[in-house]
Parts: sequence; C-alpha cells; structure tokens
Amino acid sequence: MSAHRILVLHGPNLNLLGSRQPEIYGHETLDDINNRLYEKAAINGWDITCRQSNHEGELIDAIHAARTDGTDLIVINPAAYTHTSVAILDALNAYEGRVIEVHLSNIHKRETFRHHSYVSRRADGVIAGLGSRGYLLALDSLS
Ligand code: DQA
Repeated sequence: MSAHRILVLHGPNLNLLGSRQPEIYGHETLDDINNRLYEKAAINGWDITCRQSNHEGELIDAIHAARTDGTDLIVINPAAYTHTSVAILDALNAYEGRVIEVHLSNIHKRETFRHHSYVSRRADGVIAGLGSRGYLLALDSLS
C-alpha cells in the first residue's frame, strides 16, 4: 500500500447536491459523497482533500497548489466549467500528476453544449453517468 495524496475538486453548483435537480444528480449531498471518499482514503492510508468552489480562479489556485505539494491524483468534476474553461485546462496541463474527470450525469446523453469537455483533453480518464460512484471509481485508478 503506497501513500498517495489526492485532491478532489468539485466545481460550481455542486454545493447544492441533494436538492439541485435530484432527478439528474441524485439525492446525496456533497458531504455524503465527500465522507465516502474520506472513508475510502482512510482505509487505504491515502491523504485526501475534498474542495468545492463556485469560482473558477479558486479551482485554478487549488490546481496550482497541487503542482508542488505532493498531490499525485486530481479527481475533478469541473461542473459547468467543463464546457467553458480553457483556464482550468491550462492549469491542469501545468500539473504533472494523474487527472481523472468525473461527472455525475452522462454528459453525452444531455444537451449538445454539454458534450464537449475542455478538461477531457488533459484527463487520463473520464467517468460519466455513474453518479457518486464515479468519484470512488476514480480513486480505484490508484490501485
Ligand atoms: C456535471 C455535468 C455538467 O454539465 C453540469 O454543468 C454540472 C454537473 C455532472 O456532474 O454531471 O454542474 O459536471
């Protein structure tokens, strides 16, 4: 079992999980999801930090910090910034560790504007449509 340092980043509006369009995003809250990630990390002896921000620049600052603090995996659900943010793509391109992009919903089954992801150009793996299980599966990419 090797020590890993993981950063989980949740983008805009994901703080509303549980009450936001539950027919699409499910009934779990962000705390429910993060708690499951913290539990899984504890079992495996991994150091994990989960952060949510509604601000593009804060997500970028967190990615910058991960370049030098020993983070070897970023799991990111950029939410709506997936489809708009060259700046988040550029920040991830400046990070050398593994990147897994997660979406709760299957973005390819939804509106056309959700089909394109800037982040996918950098992601080592993409998981979409498996709900919150996607985040847990992203952690499995370490083992
Ligand atoms: C999302 C999909 C995005 O299109 C949307 O803007 C979100 C959440 C998902 O997890 O399914 O906010 O990233």
